[in-house]
Amino acid sequence: MNPLAELLRGEILRDGPISFRRFMDAALYDPEYGYYRRARDPFGREGDFYTAEQLQPVFGMLVAARVRTLWREMGSPADFTVVELGAGRREMAGAFAEWRYVPVDLTAGSLPEQFRGVVFANEFFDALPVHVVTAAEGLLRELCVGWETDRFCWVPGPPATQELADYVRRWFPADFAGTAEVNLEALRWLERIGAALRAGYLLAIDYGYTRAEAARFPHGTLMSYRRHSARENVLEHPGEQDLTAHVSFTALSEHGAAAGLETVRFETLAQMLLSAGEGDQFAEVLAGGTPAEELRRRLQLKNLLFGMGETFRVLLARKA
Ligand SMILES: C[S@@+](CC[C@H](N)C(=O)[O-])C[C@H]1O[C@@H](n2cnc3c(N)ncnc32)[C@H](O)[C@@H]1O
Repeated sequence: MNPLAELLRGEILRDGPISFRRFMDAALYDPEYGYYRRARDPFGREGDFYTAEQLQPVFGMLVAARVRTLWREMGSPADFTVVELGAGRREMAGAFAEWRYVPVDLTAGSLPEQFRGVVFANEFFDALPVHVVTAAEGLLRELCVGWETDRFCWVPGPPATQELADYVRRWFPADFAGTAEVNLEALRWLERIGAALRAGYLLAIDYGYTRAEAARFPHGTLMSYRRHSARENVLEHPGEQDLTAHVSFTALSEHGAAAGLETVRFETLAQMLLSAGEGDQFAEVLAGGTPAEELRRRLQLKNLLFGMGETFRVLLARKA
């Protein structure tokens, strides 16, 4: 058993089952053993997963083209700032170099106060620790993590708190039955973004569902990734595998609106990239200088449009 599993098991044996939010927070972000805190790089070929951001320079050039349109729409202000939440390996630094770029991750950077520009977030909201609840016969309970003989297991917890129940009532269908994740942390981030952004946009890319689509996931959407394969047992090996939960875009959009961020577009990543590439952008993006580089870029574009393009969605919200 790894040291983080020991620590969590000790906590459960001492105090009883813990919320999944606590489990996921420790598994990903424990200062010593959390998945995103370890020396091993989780991204790329040697890691556990690829994100769209790693398909550089194509992804960066097209997203920058999209941001440039927003910058122009705002009158090309000189003080335009691009803040990236969950900037990871800072793959976007080059693409955003024409503006003031503020990468924010766990150990560096913070949301500036009162700025104009864009908050960019790629696979950020899906990495925030979530509570898990289950709805059956009109009763909503939290699902907690317990310990059984030699492994972590799911155990029914107490009736859901008012805050968890409100989330499900607001952003899931009225007759929702099954298991769902509740991302309170995402709501807190939307409030922070709404308060910090004087004027500008939130551009969030993630996988997720709307209220109407939630019924497609009666067992919830938690996934873990290790060495490029998706695993369903999210309670195994805490700290050694990535954990994600699909995002409720209805929650992002509606809670965002309450925080001053009005949704202006909601589309697939493919649609966003295709409109960003209109005009001369695709030609520019694919002009790599050498045949090998051009081929590499073509493959990146293909992967972005056809591989990730329909799975990922983009929410664009404006603070006027
Ligand atoms: C799935 S990774 C995505 C990284 C990058 N955006 C990409 O697409 O390659 C999620 C990132 O969010 C960061 N993150 C999670 N919680 C955070 C928080 N509360 N504040 C800042 N960054 C956070 C993690 O450290 C991690 O780098």
